[in-house]
Amino acid sequence: MLKIGVVLGSVREGRNGLSVANWTIEKSKEFSNADEVSFELVDLADYNLPFLGVTPTAEQAIAIGSWSEKIASFDGYIFITAEYNHGIAGAFKNALDFLKPEVKNKAVAFIGYGGLGAARAIESMRMVSGELALATTQRNVNFSLITDFENMSTFAPADFHEGELKELLQQLAAWSTALKTIR
Ligand SMILES: Cc1cc2nc3c(=O)[nH]c(=O)nc-3n(C[C@H](O)[C@H](O)[C@H](O)COP(=O)(O)O)c2cc1C
Repeated sequence: MLKIGVVLGSVREGRNGLSVANWTIEKSKEFSNADEVSFELVDLADYNLPFLGVTPTAEQAIAIGSWSEKIASFDGYIFITAEYNHGIAGAFKNALDFLKPEVKNKAVAFIGYGGLGAARAIESMRMVSGELALATTQRNVNFSLITDFENMSTFAPADFHEGELKELLQQLAAWSTALKTIR
């Protein structure tokens, strides 16, 4: 049984990312065998992390531990990312900087949304993932804020993205399974 964490990295109030994450989980369950793989939402907004390096409050220290424990519990990940100034959200990068052994020798696939499907943010995240020894799959799903959202806020994805998601899931399952053998 593979455990996949669907990590939502935008904490902005009113964020578009939650609809994308919910679609990802719903469709991933539809396209997968429930006896073989599970999908769980990990919402960064549920973890009140401090900036890395700043002395945490007691509550933040608990959040750091919970974040580490939750992320460590998966075999692989789907990162859901927006694009902010051609990069990933600052909160997401900060949260990744708390991790290392939790994600080592695991696999990640990316789903982005933005003017150009968050393509640039995803590519920058590949470099970050490489340093975390987190293997990145080839297939992304890139949602356009212009054509996959109404008024850039109501998620209405084009049907062809389902085919992309199926391919992404196949790649993620293959690598997550393979990497289990070296952990
Ligand atoms: C400060 C800021 C910078 C942004 N920069 C980009 C950008 O470089 N490329 C892009 O496609 N969208 C950009 N956007 C649009 C966001 O991708 C869009 O608002 C998206 O919905 C943000 O994700 P969220 O709603 O889940 O927080 C930017 C938005 C903000 C607020």
